Amino acid sequence: MNSKIKNILNKKNRSKILCLTAYSKNFAEEIDKHVDITLVGDSLGSVLYNYDSTKKVTLNNMIDHSRSVRIGVKKSLMVVDMPYNTYNSNVIACKNAKKIIKETKCDAVKLEGGKKIINQINFLIKKKISVMGHLGLLPQTAKGKFKSKGNSSKETKQLINDALLLQKAGVFAIVLECIKSPTAKLITKSLEIPTIGIGSSVNCDGQVLVTDDLIGLNKTKIRFVKKFINIKKYINLGLKKFSTEVKSKKYPTNKYSY
Ligand code: KIV
Repeated sequence: MNSKIKNILNKKNRSKILCLTAYSKNFAEEIDKHVDITLVGDSLGSVLYNYDSTKKVTLNNMIDHSRSVRIGVKKSLMVVDMPYNTYNSNVIACKNAKKIIKETKCDAVKLEGGKKIINQINFLIKKKISVMGHLGLLPQTAKGKFKSKGNSSKETKQLINDALLLQKAGVFAIVLECIKSPTAKLITKSLEIPTIGIGSSVNCDGQVLVTDDLIGLNKTKIRFVKKFINIKKYINLGLKKFSTEVKSKKYPTNKYSY
């Protein structure tokens, strides 16, 4: 087993697992210093391309951005989302996962879903491909307005069954998206592998966020997004200084000229 995955598994019930998204080299270089998992999420569709759904993200989008991220990631586990429609059957899933891994040198892939895609997940793991699961709100297949999951006992039971199925198949961790706190707690307690929450309370073994959201670069008003810093303020400060110095001919001085 990949030693980075072993370390992540060892963190269960010991210390929190940190995961953040990266879509390019320079961001990845900084993120890598702070996380256990760098995720090239298909959220790049909405964050970078303004798509109204992750359904429009292509395999090539994921590969191009992941190749850039790979340059910046030195120590964390690099996971790449398999986009919508790229894992509809065992053979297709395997062909595409292998292409992602070959072209990006990532450590693992992430797929959204439980029982519905368990054959594909079993197949990938049998082919020695490391897989991260994703349950709860599934943006690739969600219909209508995004809603929290695990609200009824039926939904909770189904989520626990899905989580156990994924664990049995051999996924090394499961992202729990927008799952009610008591349900996330139940799932986390039922599993030997870690859960990584997003909008699913402190009861998960780790947390993941879209980096552009937490630094205030992305305009989002999602309940679970905390803006830890307003990075736009600092970007604008630098840009304004550049503009002022160019206009006043203060820049470039001889030091910055040939
Ligand atoms: O696409 C993504 O960035 C994700 C995370 C938000 C979990 O799947």
